[in-house]
Amino acid sequence: MPTVFPAFAKINLSLEVVGRRPDGYHELRTIFQTIDLHDLLEIEATATPDVRLTCDDPNLPCDERNLVVRAAQALQAAAQTRRGARIRLQKRIPTQAGLGGGSSDAAATLLALRRLWAVNVSDAELHRIAAGLGADVPFFLTGGTALGLGRGDVIHPLPDAVLPFIVLIHPNVSVPTGPVFRRLNADLTDAAAVRTLAASLSVGVNWRQAGNDLEAVVFEDFPAVREARDRLYVWGAQTARMSGSGGVVFGLFEDAATSETARRAGVDAGWSGWVCRSVGREAYARRLLGQAK
Ligand code: C5P
Repeated sequence: MPTVFPAFAKINLSLEVVGRRPDGYHELRTIFQTIDLHDLLEIEATATPDVRLTCDDPNLPCDERNLVVRAAQALQAAAQTRRGARIRLQKRIPTQAGLGGGSSDAAATLLALRRLWAVNVSDAELHRIAAGLGADVPFFLTGGTALGLGRGDVIHPLPDAVLPFIVLIHPNVSVPTGPVFRRLNADLTDAAAVRTLAASLSVGVNWRQAGNDLEAVVFEDFPAVREARDRLYVWGAQTARMSGSGGVVFGLFEDAATSETARRAGVDAGWSGWVCRSVGREAYARRLLGQAK
């Protein structure tokens, strides 16, 4: 019998790019937050070592190009196990949208298979494997509200943010992350080095005062993303912002009725929309691994 694991999406409540790194990545200071929009992974551990993935989204590859397969294989290697897995992925989180869907699927696979295979891999080792899969993957090992430094993979858990209703609007554009960061480079100065140091010293950050430094670049190339952000304010959002490298924008709303009206207005504009709640750190762990023995 397969076990079902939800893989939750994230938003970036704030995202500051504080410098360029010698490894080609960018030094970030970001506040991550898990939300209840989620993919579903049905996983069955097998006695033979092959990892077989199927997915209900025909646009996604099911071979080593998929982070779920890479995560399973990396854990197999680290744990030196001969067991494998049959995995069925039901995609609900839009891809290339700034919601971390692929990264969350990968982290959920690591946590799930460590449990199902009953292998002895420490949290520190799991974090190392996660960071090797992608900059956003380590955050999804803990979830909740967290400060991400470094490439976004140095995680400092924070007290759960108290958030009202979160409306996501996807103006149905796919935004690949790499080019967005590359376009930023022209604007980064040497002052970035100083700010990098400051970022690594300061663990507290008020996300309400920060914004998303990637918005300007994405708004220029994808005007619909800016339009969606502006509309969220018109529809009553207290704060509206792009998540990650976009193109999803989120708005924070006081009550259920206003947020549902905003979601519907987004759908009427030809976009996709969701009303979400935040998922705190304890609920994240309980809901992710709750059904696994
Ligand atoms: O690690 P991941 O594969 O998710 O990152 C995708 C791309 O986004 C990287 O290849 C890099 O170009 C860019 N990136 C960056 N700085 C970060 C995270 C991502 O430049 N902190």
